[in-house]
Amino acid sequence: MTDRTVADILIESLPYIRQFSGKTIVVKYGGHAMVDEKLKDDFASDITLLKCIGLNPVVVHGGGPQINKVLDAMGITSSFVRGMRYTDDETMDVVEMVLGGKVNKEIVARINSKGGNTVGLTGKDGGLITAEKMTIYQEAEGDNPPEIIDPGMVGTVSRVNPHIIHTLTDQGFIPVIAPVGIGEKGETYNINADLVAAKIASALNAERLILLTDVDGLLDEAGKLVSSANAATIHGMIKNGNIKGGMIPKMECALESLDHGVQKSHIINGTRSHALLLELFTDSGIGTQVFRDNG
Ligand SMILES: Nc1ncnc2c1ncn2[C@@H]1O[C@H](COP(=O)(O)OP(=O)(O)OP(=O)(O)O)[C@@H](O)[C@H]1O
Ligand SMILES: [Mg+2]
Repeated sequence: MTDRTVADILIESLPYIRQFSGKTIVVKYGGHAMVDEKLKDDFASDITLLKCIGLNPVVVHGGGPQINKVLDAMGITSSFVRGMRYTDDETMDVVEMVLGGKVNKEIVARINSKGGNTVGLTGKDGGLITAEKMTIYQEAEGDNPPEIIDPGMVGTVSRVNPHIIHTLTDQGFIPVIAPVGIGEKGETYNINADLVAAKIASALNAERLILLTDVDGLLDEAGKLVSSANAATIHGMIKNGNIKGGMIPKMECALESLDHGVQKSHIINGTRSHALLLELFTDSGIGTQVFRDNG
């Protein structure tokens, strides 16, 4: 690459850097996007670069595959309902240890190694996330009412106290958050990371909520990318079974966040190198952008 090309690229990104300067960008880093060392390193560099050029990145991470690995080694099998892992007490211990320990600290260390100033926390720290038990409604056959499913210690976010996030970002730190919350009685909840990212993005009035996963975005029944999706598309595709598993909470959260202070939400493929930078600083419009019905 010639010096001229480097200068061109930097100058082309200038309008985006100006647009995002000082703005909060919440990035959900899916466990499924943490594929290899190079990708994890590129992600860490991207986050560090965002901070260095004046944006306020806040990272929320998942860790489904990493949790599975430990559960497998322990001989525990999980079942999933609407993309949520049934979480008994033993599974909850593993989820908290893997997310809040191994995965969180690995991301923290990697971003720090690139020169970012990172602090890892779970929803328990600084009273960040108060949670309550989630009730899951599963569509039943025909005219039957939906079935109510008890997911164990799966939580939903009842309250976000962003004070700790502001304190960290004001002092130049990048918060990296594991999706574990605490109930009113001190009980620990396993919360879907997309849900946590969306609630935190709303509490921070984030400019962007970017959900990094392991597919190009929302895919239709033919596997083709749906580049923009509104409520009707999303609800229709959930109903007819074309949005399944972990994509259900992801699409629901991306949509809901737009009604609660977030300017734009996107689902992009985090297994593409530097996907985050390309999304923020180019016109190429990768992935799926979610719109309000009137948007
Ligand atoms: N219509 C769809 N379009 C795209 N992906 C879909 C669709 N329906 C279901 N999926 C599945 O959703 C998965 C992404 O959600 P998943 O919860 O597995 O990952 P993640 O949220 O990125 O990671 P983690 O849950 O560890 O944080 C895709 O890998 C794909 O298999
Ligand atoms: Mg998921």
